Formats: sequence, C-alpha cells, structure tokens
Amino acid sequence: MEPRESFTEPPPAPQPPQMAAPAPAAHVTPVAPPPSVALPPLPPAKAQNLDELKAALAAFDGSSLKKTATNLVFCSGNPQASVMFIGEAPGSEEDRRGEAFVGPSGQLLNKMLAAISLTRQDVYITNILPWRPPGNRKPTVEEMAMFLPFIARHIELVNPRFIVLLGGTATSALLGMAEGINRLQGRWFPYHAGSLGRDIPALATFHPAFLLRSPAQKRNAWRSMLALRQRLDEGA
Ligand code: URA
Repeated sequence: MEPRESFTEPPPAPQPPQMAAPAPAAHVTPVAPPPSVALPPLPPAKAQNLDELKAALAAFDGSSLKKTATNLVFCSGNPQASVMFIGEAPGSEEDRRGEAFVGPSGQLLNKMLAAISLTRQDVYITNILPWRPPGNRKPTVEEMAMFLPFIARHIELVNPRFIVLLGGTATSALLGMAEGINRLQGRWFPYHAGSLGRDIPALATFHPAFLLRSPAQKRNAWRSMLALRQRLDEGA
C-alpha cells in the first residue's frame, strides 16, 4: 500500500498489540536539572495556577532564548481538556503570534486531531521550551533541563487524563528514556506527575514537523491517533 499523504483519508486498520503495549520498564522520573542551571525567581512548583506559571516563565531570565525570541509561547487550546499535547519548541509563526502550534506543524496537527474527531478546543497544547530557539535549531540538553521544572508543573496544573508527546525531544525530556522516537512511537508510558501522586498515561508519537518531511511515517502517526481515540472512548 502506498504511504498516505494526508490526514483526510480514512485510517488504516489499528494494530492492537503495538498500541496497547504498556512500557515494561519505563523510567519516567523527569531528569533533574544539573546544579549549574539558573534558578527562576519564582520557583515553578510554587505556581498555583496557569497564570502564575506563565508569569514565572515570563520573569525567568536564566535562558538566552528569551533575548532572541519575540513572544513567550505558553500554550494553545483548552486547559480543561482531557488530552495535553507537548511539543518541542515554538517555530517562527508561533514566535510571531505567541501561540503554540499555529504554523505548518500546527496545521498538520489539526488534521491529525480531525482524523479522530477532535478539535483544538478538545485538547490543550504546549511545548517543552516556551521560547523559540534562533533559526529553529534543536534545543540543547541544558535548555531542556532548565525548562523541565516548568513543564512538570504545567502538567500538574492541567492534570490531563492523557498526554501525547510529539517527537523525540518531548519524549526523551519527559520520559528520560534513551531510545529514539522510532522505537518509542505508538507506545504508552506512565508519566509520574509529582504532586498529583499518580501516573498519567503518555503516548509517544512523531512530531508533525517530522511528518511533513517524512510523509511515509504518517501511517504510524495515524495508528497513534487511533490508540488515543480508543483510550478516550474507553473512559467515556
Ligand atoms: N513545533 C513545536 O514543537 N511546537 C510548536 O509550537 C510549533 C512547532
């Protein structure tokens, strides 16, 4: 079968073993920031709501990304949603508009959502980094570690039923696993949400930007979306 080129086509048959398999040995404690990382003036863990967390991020001067970016990109979508999508970092359109996933990747993400009858109002979306890295370069390990306490608190405050990790950067940052996204995509892992005292099921899948470059992988992303739909329906 030819690889599907668009998310408007009907999905391929789901493959239950791959979708359902929980991670046997998922190590899900987020990587602790190294001691050299600058501490934010308002510790993220003290933020009591999303507005306070956004203010803490805006006040944090520990990263040079803030100087080169145009806007803080905090989120997109509905904070009451059951599903929280987490990407890597804003691109140029997101930087310009101050909203997550509104450029080409966001348009493909919209199609992925529509394929399982979801809209942007049914999900909440954010990134590991709130500032665009110059030239859309990949975030460094230090940048990821620096912003990890913020995303960890972000997850606790949103308290979603499910997390979808978009791409290898978000997956390795939050699950702390060494394997690449090719091996992890399509699988569920428990993400331990510190102060919530519970594990949130987290689904690893390909990043839409990667799918734009590698459309043959869309069929795997399709399967991931179907796995998400199935979990949502199970709890309906
Ligand atoms: N890529 C991301 O990871 N996040 C965005 O918000 C846009 C593109």
